[in-house]
Amino acid sequence: MTDLMSHLKSHGQEHLLTGWDGLSPEERESFTAQLRAIDFTKIAELFAKKDEPGASLPPRDRIAPLPVEQPAAAAVEIGEGALRRGEVAVLVVAGGQGSRLGFEQPKGMFPVGPVSGATLFRIHAEKVLALTRRYGKPVPLLVMTSPATHSETVADFEQERNFGLPSGQVHFFQQGTMPAVELATGKLLLEKPGQLALSPNGHGGTLTALADSGLLARLKSAGIKHVFYFQVDNPLVNVCDPAFVGRHIQADAEVSSKVVFKERPEEKVGVLATVDGRCAIIEYSDMPKAMTEERAADGTLAFRAGNPAIHLFSVPFLERVTSGHQRLAFHLARKKVLHWDPASGQTVNPDEPNALKFELFVFDALPMAERWLAVQAKREDEFAPLKNADGPDSLETCQALMVGQARRWLTAAGATVAGDAAVEISPLFALDAAAVKMKVKPGTVVSGTTYFSET
Ligand code: UD1
Repeated sequence: MTDLMSHLKSHGQEHLLTGWDGLSPEERESFTAQLRAIDFTKIAELFAKKDEPGASLPPRDRIAPLPVEQPAAAAVEIGEGALRRGEVAVLVVAGGQGSRLGFEQPKGMFPVGPVSGATLFRIHAEKVLALTRRYGKPVPLLVMTSPATHSETVADFEQERNFGLPSGQVHFFQQGTMPAVELATGKLLLEKPGQLALSPNGHGGTLTALADSGLLARLKSAGIKHVFYFQVDNPLVNVCDPAFVGRHIQADAEVSSKVVFKERPEEKVGVLATVDGRCAIIEYSDMPKAMTEERAADGTLAFRAGNPAIHLFSVPFLERVTSGHQRLAFHLARKKVLHWDPASGQTVNPDEPNALKFELFVFDALPMAERWLAVQAKREDEFAPLKNADGPDSLETCQALMVGQARRWLTAAGATVAGDAAVEISPLFALDAAAVKMKVKPGTVVSGTTYFSET
């Protein structure tokens, strides 16, 4: 204890031991381990950067729009070959809770299906199962959770019997955490006596956690060459799109990213651009208004390559960016953090941001790629983010996009869908428009709410 106290004192963090006397021997042991694992020097360095303006954005003359390719139908066969050889794994980041949605469980458990009420997890897992059936090789599903979502997520998959996937095909791993510090002082915050206030270290923590958990090495030895990455909050993601996988292989890219063109300057999506000639994503919160409004000669937004957070990483690239000397840098975010105040002994629920949180962003890996690719995706077919309780990117807009796609696929197959019918297609019924065509006879009439399920 005296050792620990002097260690904390040397970093100005001795307040953390307030309440020590009331802790049980086990609590003391685990708290000591927690504190020993903290790199206080690193945290002090990060804290010192808190007032650096726009530290994450370089000057305008170093930034340029990024060329975006059209999808390459000719590459489908190459992508399908990789899927048939079992070279592609799927990684979904699901460390976030649905707090902006007013949902206090892991976001993946949100029932989004407009007719079925299927959860996001079910929809993603069924796509992976459908791919496995189609290509005859197991597609590993990697689910990245955080301490806030891990046990509920694992329990949900168990209860749902992995949504039909064999258990050996689903792998869970947890992202790391970082302590939150008081904005005014840099002191680490406590959740309660003997417990730091910790938060997930951002989805950039995915890459390090994938490597540190040993999963990346296991995937590699199982023959995986590419990892298809997406966010849990997008039910329309075209998982392992063969044209995309194929083009990535053809171009020998280290990272390939899907792009949806922004329609309005104020849309809340990051933007793919080049910075010093390398591929990068500029987060919407970092992008100056003037830049969001810049126009190209043809009148379109100059920086319109919106980030739907769908990437394909090559395994050697993932090894490189997690190998130690090229790790990602933390972003600083001012947030409201509920904490226990050692001075008053009270729990404080602040109204204003009181803390700094440290987060890694997965897309900070992009500039480390030597070869990259950006491919346009049709928004209405691949991007229906579920973020907010109402307004843009809400359940209403998300479900409308899901229904819109199902209606288009059915209509393309020659079916007639009644004007107001809500329709939904399970990935196990059909994974894409071509599969719908094989199953639905031309002339079929869909007159009311219908869920096209497996059976
Ligand atoms: C994110 C992207 C933005 C992109 C948009 C597309 C960032 C910083 N920005 O914005 O460029 O255009 O999505 O929808 O990501 N997550 C974790 N662990 C964490 C933090 C987040 O797993 O520590 C997961 C969440 O579960 C979620 C995803 O990452 O699936 C995105 O997080 P969110 O906070 O919703 O990002 P946005 O601000 O919407």
